[in-house]
Amino acid sequence: MLILGIETSCDDTATALVRDGRDVLASVSTNQDAFHAKYGGIVPEIASRQHVALLSAAVDDALERAETRLADVDAIAVTRGPGLIGSLVVGVAAAKALAFALNKPLYAVNHLHGHIFAAFLDRAEAPPYPFLALLVSGGHSQLVDVRSATEMRVIGRTRDDAAGEAYDKTARLLGLGYPGGPQLDALAQRGNPKAHAFPRHRPDAGSLDLSFSGLKTSVRYFLESDEGRAAKPEDVAASFQAAVVDVLIARVTRAFDEGSYNAVVLSGGVASNSALQSALRSWSEKRNIPAFIPPPKYCTDNAAMIAAVAYHQSDATHADPLTLSANPNLPFAPPVSP
Ligand code: KG4
Ligand code: ZN
Repeated sequence: MLILGIETSCDDTATALVRDGRDVLASVSTNQDAFHAKYGGIVPEIASRQHVALLSAAVDDALERAETRLADVDAIAVTRGPGLIGSLVVGVAAAKALAFALNKPLYAVNHLHGHIFAAFLDRAEAPPYPFLALLVSGGHSQLVDVRSATEMRVIGRTRDDAAGEAYDKTARLLGLGYPGGPQLDALAQRGNPKAHAFPRHRPDAGSLDLSFSGLKTSVRYFLESDEGRAAKPEDVAASFQAAVVDVLIARVTRAFDEGSYNAVVLSGGVASNSALQSALRSWSEKRNIPAFIPPPKYCTDNAAMIAAVAYHQSDATHADPLTLSANPNLPFAPPVSP
């Protein structure tokens, strides 16, 4: 089954052609960072206008790279939400038009499910169910109990900032450019993670929830202090990163202590963080539990993951009607089997 995936939930205009939810024939992502950089964050109106300008060419580009034609596509998959409404509308409208014109089924999927199924792309072995997914992106930080493509439950979530948001805000405090996460990661690699003891905040001993706003605030107060002004930025970056990673690994450990899982999946933009990846890999070796970490191109927003989740959910659900609309607040609950 060849699926054309379209992802426009935020600021990446992405298209992909994926066979059987696994083999990526093409994955194209037009990064809009240059248009948003001078504002220090994503400007929703600019993002939607860029999607309008870029999407048709991105579909053609994916088809060309995959050496295939629209007529060979079996279904269209698109991100329905959550995300920026103006951005989502562009992708959903394009996907509905294509599905109608080609008379092919439309699967409108949840962006967060997509991040989890990025772990199935371009690899011989799929993560064995049930598995725990740690989903850390610019908009979300969650622990998800995944029993199947249509049985997924959020068992821990952030109470305030998402992990990526904490990275971006802390990067800004350090005077780094946008998007801050990858730049902070690079800076931290030259620093000492033990130089400064930032708090490891875990709300309620009994829950799997996360919280990052206190950490960001304590970095801010530290940078305003005499000690902070004299500190090396790379040490601050590395110490902040160590605190984030410690909290995330502690939550994964607790989830495994409470539940029974065959694997752990790391996904979302922050999954490409080098410190988090190496900490999770050593955790997985110590516990002898396989860790599935997609390559960076599938960790950040992309359309291959959208095509993948549509394929895996299509067994259990009907195609969506062409009257469907984008939903910026789409709940996490997976589609219900017919
Ligand atoms: O999943 P994603 O591409 O978009 C959302 O759906 O949010 O995640 C983007 C987030 C941004 O906050 C970005 O700074 C962060 O992922 N990010 C990183 C790294 N690469 C991307 N954070 C830390 N280290 C990285 N290497
Ligand atoms: Zn995302």
